[in-house]
Amino acid sequence: MPGTFIAFEGGEGAGKSSRCRALARRLRATGHEVILTHEPGDTAVGRRIRAMLLDAGAAEPSARGEALLYAADRAEHVAAVVRPALDRGAVVVTDRYVDSSIAYQGVGRGLGAEAVAELSRFATGGLLPDLTVVLDVPPGVGRGRLTGPADRLEAEPAEFHARVRQAFLDQAARAPDRYVVVDATLPIEHVDAAIIDAVKELGLS
Ligand code: TYD
Repeated sequence: MPGTFIAFEGGEGAGKSSRCRALARRLRATGHEVILTHEPGDTAVGRRIRAMLLDAGAAEPSARGEALLYAADRAEHVAAVVRPALDRGAVVVTDRYVDSSIAYQGVGRGLGAEAVAELSRFATGGLLPDLTVVLDVPPGVGRGRLTGPADRLEAEPAEFHARVRQAFLDQAARAPDRYVVVDATLPIEHVDAAIIDAVKELGLS
């Protein structure tokens, strides 16, 4: 595909959304068309799925139901937002993608990384990012950065978040040429510099 696909992953409070915005600003300034997007909930159908998953007072789905809802959101996201943008040559920057399902549902909920990866392959037609940026932060530090009431995933115990963190690192270790792991406890300038170095290796300036 003519475009470039970049995903940001990591635990709660890692700073993904602000680092995504900073990268988008930087790439736009050099003339790229950048689509900044996120999961779950960046399509009309996805917003309804997100409400089922994360709104305060939402009913508790089963672990498998939860995995399927995130996969359904992803299918909509890829079909309606990601593929059309990549087809016309844009840079797509997404806040969370397949690895979030592998980490939270596959490992965190214990459904199995491979089973959940397979579900995402179906949802996306096999579309993987050119680069995944893992913003790594110890769960205690990430949690301390959160404001507002915890959603269902945030409210899981520290042990759950430790497994989720390890799952992101394991995914990165399996395909180091498609990942960069950045220590998100570093000052923002260092975090952004590491991200920009990795993006330059994709041929984007
Ligand atoms: P969100 O409010 O978008 O915030 P953030 O990404 O900053 O944490 O929360 C999305 C939540 O959904 C988050 O707790 C992680 C969870 N999640 C999954 O469990 N599986 C997934 O596949 C995705 C995309 C997100």
